[in-house]
Formats: sequence, C-alpha cells, structure tokens
Amino acid sequence: MSDRGSFDTNVVTLTRFVLEEGRKAKGTGELTTLLNSLCTAIKAISTAVRKAGIAHLYGIAGSTNVTGDQVKKLDILSNDLVINMIKSSFTSCVLVSEEDENAIIVEPDRRGKYIVCFDPLDGSSNIDCLVSIGTIFAIYRKTTEDEPCENDALQPGRKLVAAGYALYGSATMMVLSTGQGVNCFMLDPAIGEFILVDRDVKIKKRGNIYSLNEGYAAHFDPAVTEYIQAKKFPKDGSAPYSARYVGSMVADVHRTLVYGGIFLYPANVKSPKGKLRLLYECNPMAFIIEQAGGLATTGSISVLDIQPVSIHQRAPVVMGSPDDVQDYIAIYQKHANGEHVE
Ligand code: F6P
Repeated sequence: MSDRGSFDTNVVTLTRFVLEEGRKAKGTGELTTLLNSLCTAIKAISTAVRKAGIAHLYGIAGSTNVTGDQVKKLDILSNDLVINMIKSSFTSCVLVSEEDENAIIVEPDRRGKYIVCFDPLDGSSNIDCLVSIGTIFAIYRKTTEDEPCENDALQPGRKLVAAGYALYGSATMMVLSTGQGVNCFMLDPAIGEFILVDRDVKIKKRGNIYSLNEGYAAHFDPAVTEYIQAKKFPKDGSAPYSARYVGSMVADVHRTLVYGGIFLYPANVKSPKGKLRLLYECNPMAFIIEQAGGLATTGSISVLDIQPVSIHQRAPVVMGSPDDVQDYIAIYQKHANGEHVE
C-alpha cells in the first residue's frame, strides 16, 4: 500500500466524466454545463430529502417556519432548485416540469439550446414515510430557430440527447446516459461529489422479478392478467417470479436495471392511458433501460417512438430485461389480434 493509504486520489467524479465525454464528442461544453447544474440541484435535493423531518419539509406547503419564511414542501423546493439551477446555467430555453401546468420559457438573456423535461421529486406518495424517491430528467436539443415554445418539448424519446435519474435511497445514486451506455455515480456525502461506481451497466437478459401495482388487478387488461398469471404459475416447471413494488418509479426501475426483471404500469380500465407521464417519467427511464440493453414498450410500440401531443400526456409502460419484455409483448399482441385465449 502506498503512503496514501486506501485513499483514491484519482476518482472519476460525475463532473469529470461528463467533461471527458464532452471533450471526446468535441462539444461546445453546453451539455456539460447543463449536466453540472442538474448535478448541483440533485445534491441540494438529496440534502433536503435527508434532513426533511428536521427542517420541517414534510407535509403541506403553506405553514411558516421560525423565521417567518414560508416553508416549502419537499417537491416544491425540489422544483425550484432544478428550475433555478438550469436557468442560471445559460444552457436551456424550454423547461417542462411535472409541477408546472405550462412549459417554462427561459428569459431571452439566459437561454441556451437545450430543452429539459423533469420530475423534480418522483414517488410523492412515499415522501412522508421515508421510502425511496427520485428525480428524473430528459434533455432534448431545440430543433428550430423559432422563438422557444411548449411545442419544442414535444419530441419522441428517440431524439433524446441525454437522460437520467437520481435515486434517494439508502444512498443517493445518479444514473446517466448521454446515448453511449449507462453509467452510475454514487454520492459521497463527505466530499459532496458523485463518484463513478458502475461503468457501462447492462441489464440481465432475463430476470425473476415482476413489479406492478397488483391492487388494480380488478381493472387489468386481459393481457396483463395473463402475463402475471404466467409468472406466478409457470407451466414449464421453472420457479415463480418474485413480486416487488415500491411505488416510486425511480426505485422500481432502478431495481429492474440492477437485478433484472420487468416493471409494468400498463393501461387499465380505469386509466386507459396508464398513469405515468411520457415526457419526464416514461421516456427518460425507457432511454436508460434501452441504453442498458433492455426494452421499453407500450405493448404495441416502443415507448421512445411515441410522438407526444401534449406535455403532460400519459403512456402505458412496460420495461426491463429484454426476454421478459418480449414475453409480455407476445401476450399483448395475441390479445390485440383477438386470437383465442385460454
Ligand atoms: O407518478 C408518480 C408515481 O409515484 C411513480 O413514481 C410510481 O411508479 C407511481 O406513481 C405509483 O402509482 P400507484 O400508486 O398507482 O401504484
């Protein structure tokens, strides 16, 4: 051992990683700056999540703290952080947030060429009970010279420049893809930096976990019922799949990425378009899963091929290990074709 002990003096931080990728791609540095600003917002959100109870950030917005300031709920605070950090990076012109009904058009003197769609704090039903939550983001390039507007964000996921998420779990992890595979960075709270821990992550070809809200079984489409039944009672003598469902998309998809298997939020009789939002939930997560060698489908088409028509539209989504998703597609298509179902 050298006299530096076990201290790694050459770690790859997220900042260093995106800087190197930007150099290789001979970019202008604008994406690097944008990703750095997102990184700063995510670190601040992580800190807020970790001390939420102490800082009275749980529960209803609108109460006042000791200094008389308005106390912001964690999701509002996270939204403000992401918006302020992106705007002050001079890299983006249109922002779509889960928290804001309309797209945010950046002031002319702070504009850049990117469009960012994000869910600042996903998994809201899990905030108050300390279960994992996350931040999701999707980055597009503006494609016209026109004045920036909401329509600029209506691009299919195939056009994504970069996407990723932060998971505030037992540790904080950021998972990022700029279209060259998927890389995972763990937040080291001691130095306040994200450190590269898993390079070019690939998803298993097949897993043994299925993940969906089975409480809605009464409303499932027949294809979903048949698929889940096949995983619980395999006819080929193999072991049944395990069920896991956190109820935070980031946590459920991250587990799928790491352990393999399948995550489903399909359409059902009550939600004919599913629940999850295309621009800042389905697309960025589908991009990560595809970049890791997995698949993401609505049942009939790839999630990334959907042409959005409005910024908050929902889409049914099934994603994960390629063989598992193929099994689902086969059953879905059999039902769509009206073939005889046992
Ligand atoms: O859209 C927000 C969200 O909390 C996702 O993170 C999660 O996957 C989903 O909703 C859970 O929905 P449900 O409570 O219907 O299972």
